[in-house]
Amino acid sequence: MTTNPFNPSAANPRHIAGRGAEKVALADMLDAGNQSPVAVIFGPRGNGKTALARWLERAAAANGVETRYRYARACGTMENASALLLDQECATHRELEAAVGVYRGPPRLLVIDEAQGLPPSIAASLVAATELSQGALSVVLVGTPHLHQMLHDIDSSLWAKGPALPLHPLDPASAADALQTPATAAGRPIADDVLDNVVEDSQGYPPFLQAWGANLWRQTEAGAPIEADAMERARPAVDYYRFSFYEHRKAELVPYASSALEVAYLFAETPVANETAILNAIRRGLPARASTADLADAFRDFRDLGVFWREPGAVDSYRPAIPSLMTSIREGQEAAIQRRKARRSRQAAASKRVTPPM
Ligand SMILES: Nc1ncnc2c1ncn2[C@@H]1O[C@H](COP(=O)(O)OP(=O)(O)OP(=O)(O)O)[C@@H](O)[C@H]1O
Ligand SMILES: [Mg+2]
Repeated sequence: MTTNPFNPSAANPRHIAGRGAEKVALADMLDAGNQSPVAVIFGPRGNGKTALARWLERAAAANGVETRYRYARACGTMENASALLLDQECATHRELEAAVGVYRGPPRLLVIDEAQGLPPSIAASLVAATELSQGALSVVLVGTPHLHQMLHDIDSSLWAKGPALPLHPLDPASAADALQTPATAAGRPIADDVLDNVVEDSQGYPPFLQAWGANLWRQTEAGAPIEADAMERARPAVDYYRFSFYEHRKAELVPYASSALEVAYLFAETPVANETAILNAIRRGLPARASTADLADAFRDFRDLGVFWREPGAVDSYRPAIPSLMTSIREGQEAAIQRRKARRSRQAAASKRVTPPM
C-alpha cells in the first residue's frame, strides 16, 4: 500500500515546492572555497524553515560535506558549539578562532535550528570564527524573525557575509506543486478545480497545504483521482486541524490578549499595515502604565509569534503571517462576547423569576 505522501506535523515533506532561489543560494555556500561560510534562514512559524534546512543537510551530505543538524539547545555553551563545529572543545572565543584558523579536516556544515534560542555570544562567535576557516567550515542558522533581530544587534554587517533568506508563504504555483507533485507520483492526481480551491484556501501556508493533502489523500481510493467529493469529505478534518493550530497560537498570545484583538481588528480593515499603525493598535491593548520599551517588546513578540511579517520586498509594510489567524481571533472574541451576553440575560431572567412579589 502506498503511504500518505503528506503530513502537516513532519518537517520533512516528500517534495519541497518552490524555494528554488533559496536552494541555489544555499548550494553556492557548499562550493569549495566559498566566500560565504555563514547563511541564515528565517521566517514565521510554519513557513518551511526546518524543511529547507533538512534539504540542505541532505544536499550537503550528497556533496561529501560532513553535516551536523542540531537544535540550538545542543549548542548552548562554547564547549558544545565548538565540539559540534570542529570536534574540539574550546572554552573561549579566542580558542575557537585559533582552532578554526588551523582546521585542516574535511569540509563540514553545522546547521542550527531554532537558533533564536542560542546565547547571542555563541551565535556571534560562530559567525565570526567560521569566517577564518577559508571555506572548510560553514554554519547555517535557522530561526524565527527574532533570530534576524538578534544577529542584526550583534553585527549589522553580518548580512553582507552570506545569504540571509527570509521564508515567505509559497506562491500559488508552488503551492499547487506542493500538492500535485507528490499526489500524482503516488498515483492519486488532484483534479484542477480541487487544486485551485485548496490552494486558495491555504493561502500558500505550508502546514495548511499539508493538512489538505493528507486529508484529501485519506478520502480517496488508491489509484483514483482526487475529486470534489473528496474535498467536501476532507474539509471537517482540515478545519479541525486549523482550529487546533489557531488555539495553540492564541494560547501563546494570552499575555497580550487585548493587543492581539486590536491588531486583529486593524487587519480586518486593511490587508497590509505599516509599523506605526501596528504599534498604535498594540498600544491600545496595553495597560496605560506600559512604557515605550514594553511596546517595543510586544511588537517583537508579535512578530516572532507570527502575528505579522514584513511583505516580500517591502520596507515598512506588514501582513498577517499565519493566514486567517486574525479572523479566528476576531471571531473567537465576538463569539465569547455573544456567549457572555446570553449568559447575562439568562441570569437576569432567572433572577426576575425568583424575586418574590413585593
Ligand atoms: N516548500 C515546501 N513544500 C511543501 N511542504 C512544505 C514546504 N515547506 C514546508 N512544508 C511543510 O510545511 C510544514 C511546516 O514546515 P516546517 O516545519 O519546515 O516549518 P518551520 O518554518 O520550520 O516551522 P516552525 O517555526 O514551527 O519550526 C511541514 O509539514 C512541512 O513538511
Ligand atoms: Mg522548524
